[in-house]
Amino acid sequence: MNILILGGGGREHAIAWAFAQNPKAERVFCAPGNAGIAEDVETLSLDVLSGERILAFCRENDVGFVMIGPEAPLAEGVADALRAGGMLTLGPGRAAAQLEASKAFTKEICEACGAPTAASQTFTDPEAARAYVRTEGAPIVVKADGLAAGKGVTVAETLEAAEAALEAIFDEGAGARVVIEEFMTGEEASLFVLANGEEFVTLGTAQDHKRAFDGDTGPNTGGMGAYSPAPVMTPEVTERALAEIVRPTLAEMARRGTPFQGVLYVGLMIEAGAPRLVEYNVRLGDPEAQVLAMRLGGQLLDICLACAEGDFSQAKVTFAEDHAITVVMAAQGYPGSYAKGEPIGLPVIDDPRLKIFHAGTKAAEGGIVSNGGRVLNVTARAATLREARDLAYEAADRIDWPGGFLRRDIGWRAL
Ligand code: AMP
Ligand code: GLY
Repeated sequence: MNILILGGGGREHAIAWAFAQNPKAERVFCAPGNAGIAEDVETLSLDVLSGERILAFCRENDVGFVMIGPEAPLAEGVADALRAGGMLTLGPGRAAAQLEASKAFTKEICEACGAPTAASQTFTDPEAARAYVRTEGAPIVVKADGLAAGKGVTVAETLEAAEAALEAIFDEGAGARVVIEEFMTGEEASLFVLANGEEFVTLGTAQDHKRAFDGDTGPNTGGMGAYSPAPVMTPEVTERALAEIVRPTLAEMARRGTPFQGVLYVGLMIEAGAPRLVEYNVRLGDPEAQVLAMRLGGQLLDICLACAEGDFSQAKVTFAEDHAITVVMAAQGYPGSYAKGEPIGLPVIDDPRLKIFHAGTKAAEGGIVSNGGRVLNVTARAATLREARDLAYEAADRIDWPGGFLRRDIGWRAL
């Protein structure tokens, strides 16, 4: 079968690498891909927001399955368009993608199905929002309602910070909506499930590191590293999260006539063994996909196909008792402004336990250059997290890119 993956980051490199290992995969295409993806599968440029163009490409190239990596095409309804065109596709339609695209919608679903989450209220009126913040006091969490590439959330330690966050959101203009939430304490972790309607399989757990610098300091980023499994997600906590959050949510989505199909990324806060929902995403995480794909390998394709086909009976997943870690190398200045086009010297890797997934890279004359904020994901798997971490950092230290930086403490919580 020929397969098309939409996206061009570290997540899509990991998906492409895993899919390509499965004998079911004949030609694997990735649009737009990046320099690293182009070494493993075929890349092409294609408007990933245009269902029509994607369908035309699939017809011309005998593609039988489309995997949608990032949230933007999902929120735009690309999965609806592809399925309407008869294409086997993994990813929710526009209505179900609201679970990521609107934080107010997710709150409404949690309330309707009784899933535990932070107490919250949604506002469109700036005065009412300010009054609520003053009544509740700090710390408090202020979230812009829509997709904001991870930049829409302010965990405000003070009233001033909360009011500044409100001002920034309402300054965006008419129609701005804000969710104001109780500040939750505990440990964060993510649970990944592949769902079709009310049926699902668990892909695994992971923890990422959102802050830019060591010791979880500095500004929030898309994620500077991740590891899987997350020790805080014990079998008991996982079962509670499935029973109290995932199953009720899937049932509520089905009841509304908008069943969820695709990857449900369940962001959790765990305190005293009790999980509460922080957020949903409707796709694999980046860089969490890198560690999940590293552990699942070619099986990832089998379970994605089973999910898209709505028949999990044939999906046999063997979860190895191993650990994976990924360390992100980012351009100095990220998540603020940074340089692009810097040459990167990559080491030759001939260890099957190691893989450098590319995020923001581009092929140039003479080699590879940086082309984004997060640029490389040095990923390793081993019997223990410690071993995997040592492998990853040894490989990262062989990368020749003076303009890059990485965190030295990925996995610290579990080690
Ligand atoms: P989100 O985009 O909703 O995942 O929020 C980004 C990050 O903000 C999360 O990963 C948490 O670290 C933090 N956060 C979000 N909501 C809360 C909350 N209610 N309490 C504490 N921290 C939160
Ligand atoms: N690493 C966080 C995310 O993918 O949303």
